[in-house]
Amino acid sequence: MATARKVTSAALRERKGQGDKIAVVTAYDVAFARLAERAGIDVVLVGDSLGMVVQGLPNTLPVTLDEMIYHCRMVARGVVRAHVVADMPFLSYQASLEDGVRAAGRLLKEGLAEAVKLEGGAEVAPLVARLLAIGMPVMGHVGMTPQSVHKFGGFKVQGGTDAQAQSILAGARALADAGAYAVVVENVPSSLAAAVTSAIAVPTIGIGAGPACDGQVLVMHDLLGLDPDWSPRFARRYAELGKDAIAAFAAFAADVRSGKFPSRKENTR
Ligand code: KIV
Repeated sequence: MATARKVTSAALRERKGQGDKIAVVTAYDVAFARLAERAGIDVVLVGDSLGMVVQGLPNTLPVTLDEMIYHCRMVARGVVRAHVVADMPFLSYQASLEDGVRAAGRLLKEGLAEAVKLEGGAEVAPLVARLLAIGMPVMGHVGMTPQSVHKFGGFKVQGGTDAQAQSILAGARALADAGAYAVVVENVPSSLAAAVTSAIAVPTIGIGAGPACDGQVLVMHDLLGLDPDWSPRFARRYAELGKDAIAAFAAFAADVRSGKFPSRKENTR
C-alpha cells in the first residue's frame, strides 16, 4: 500500500527519474474511485473513454464537457489521497485559447478535478502554458490520441514511420517545455515511448507503449475484465468482474424465481 501523502501534480513531476513508477487508472464514479483510492493508486483519470465504456459510443468524440464534469464530481468525492485528472473532451479546447481556459476552469471548479488532460502536441502547447500560468496543471497526451480517430482511420498504432515518430517526439517536448507535468504516451512502438521518456524532463505515462515509461495507465474496464468478451491487446486483466457479475446476477435471478431470496434472515422484520 502506498503512503498516505496527497499525490499532487508537483509530487508526480518530481518522481521523474526516481524509479518510482506511477500507477494510473480511469474511474467514472464514486464507487470505483473509492476502490482505486483504497488500493493505493496514484492517479485517478476521469477519461473521456467514458463515452465508450460507460455510454456505449463507438469513440470519444460525442462526450460533452457537462458529462465530464458530472463524472468528475462523482470521482472526486471518492478520493482523498489520489490525484484526480479530468480529460478535456473533444472541441472543448481546440477552437480557441479562451474555450480551453473556460473548459479547464469548469473541470476544476465544478468537476473538482485537480488537473486536466488534453490531447495533442505543439499545437496545444500555448494552451498548456496559459492554463499553467493561471494555476491549472496540465497532463499532455500524445501518440494515438483517440479524439483524432477519424484522422488516423481507426484506433491504430501511431509513430510507426520516421515522420510520425519525429512529430510525436517534438509534440511531447513542446508539451513538457510549455509546463505539462506529465505526458500520456498511447499506442506507439516501445522504442519511441522510450525515446520520448528520455527526451523529456517530466514523467511519461504509457498505455500500449511498452515498459520504458515512468508510469502506466489502464482503462478500469480493461483491467477489471468488466467486458468478458473483449480487451485490448496491450491490457492485462487483473480480475474477471464481468464474468463474476453475470454469475451473481444469474444466481440472484435463480434465487428470486425459486423463492430462496429473501430468506427469513434477510427480511426487515
Ligand atoms: O480517456 C481515457 O481513458 C484516456 C486513457 C486511455 C489514457 O485518455
